[in-house]
Amino acid sequence: MYQFDQVCSRLHTSCTKWDRYENRYQLHDVIPLWVADMDFACMPQIKEAMAKRLQHPIYGYTDPSDDVYQAIIEWEKRRHGITVKKEEIVLNTGVVYGFYALIEMLVKENEKVIVQPPVYPPFFNTPKSLCRKVIYSPLLHDENGWHMDFEGFEEHLKKDPSISLFLLCNPHNPTGNCYTLAEIERIIAICDRYHVWVISDEIHADIVMPNQHHVSALKCDASYHDHLIVLGSPTKTFNLAGLKISYAIIKNNALQAEFAAKAKASGLSSINIFGFEALICAYREGEQWNQACCTYIYENFQFLKHFIETYMPQVAFTIPQATYLAWLDFSKLRVPKDFASRLKWEGHVEVQEGSGFGSAYSSYQRINVACPRATLEEGMKRIYAWLKQHSYL
Ligand SMILES: Cc1ncc(COP(=O)(O)O)c(C=O)c1O
Repeated sequence: MYQFDQVCSRLHTSCTKWDRYENRYQLHDVIPLWVADMDFACMPQIKEAMAKRLQHPIYGYTDPSDDVYQAIIEWEKRRHGITVKKEEIVLNTGVVYGFYALIEMLVKENEKVIVQPPVYPPFFNTPKSLCRKVIYSPLLHDENGWHMDFEGFEEHLKKDPSISLFLLCNPHNPTGNCYTLAEIERIIAICDRYHVWVISDEIHADIVMPNQHHVSALKCDASYHDHLIVLGSPTKTFNLAGLKISYAIIKNNALQAEFAAKAKASGLSSINIFGFEALICAYREGEQWNQACCTYIYENFQFLKHFIETYMPQVAFTIPQATYLAWLDFSKLRVPKDFASRLKWEGHVEVQEGSGFGSAYSSYQRINVACPRATLEEGMKRIYAWLKQHSYL
């Protein structure tokens, strides 16, 4: 019913993913499998909802209607089983800007932020840009996948009372982990013991593979809600990143009021009118599109797995539980340090360098599979051709 297989050219739209090659590098014909947005046309109803608003010729300052809050409240209830009240929501432009402002507000200059690499680079770059030190509690890896290191994490908090905030990536980018309620509660309970704030970034919550289940941090016991903030957004799920809309859910009244005031003063809560229209439509009408999109992504992961097993079996890959991001380990092939860069310049395919997610992950590359299968296939063929040509296979 939906045309996920259809290639929709994004060239000459100032698109971050596709347009930088000619503009910035004078490179032609590169397949981009890096940044986390999708090459799928958005749900038709969203386009119609925005077109309807476009008909009115004045696009001035606009407040969120009750429908915006209601759409979020209903989606969170229906999809994640959590009860949210309007007065607990603070609307924001982007999730990254949201945690930037929260870190600035909650973490004093001599305090620190703890993160779990490998992790989405702004998790450590954003605190650093605010001159807050970052403590790393790496995820552990074994034959069953990636896991939180609860003991190591607690050790950090015990040793260093200046750690005051934990940035949780839930589901986790780039490993694709969906955490269980037991895992979420355990890590949040540790934070509670050491009076550490928790921000749970749940932007990938609705891109979940068959038989997997996202558990919002707000499913943890209500006694922990006072020091917890959940960040959500329809932008990853519905491919709307350019519209800049997201939200924070804050159960602690005083904190909610303080953050709402900061968001207003800084312009963080000043949202694009089309963002409002898109969010309402996505959350009210988007269930079926989202299901179909996740199915297509899952089939792309299966295609990728088959391709890897057939042509480059030395590369380690497991289909993730959530996200449309594949985290591939090339260590057995002993690829060069500048592998990602050479793939781009010589192989004309761009992946996201693993070292960006933490210095220990230079043998990994992240691949975005949210594209028509033909694009993914061409990208993978180019990676294979480069490896073959340079005798790594
Ligand atoms: C975990 C995570 N948080 C936030 C973002 C970006 O959110 P935004 O564009 O709303 O700032 C991304 C984008 O890839 C992400 O993976």
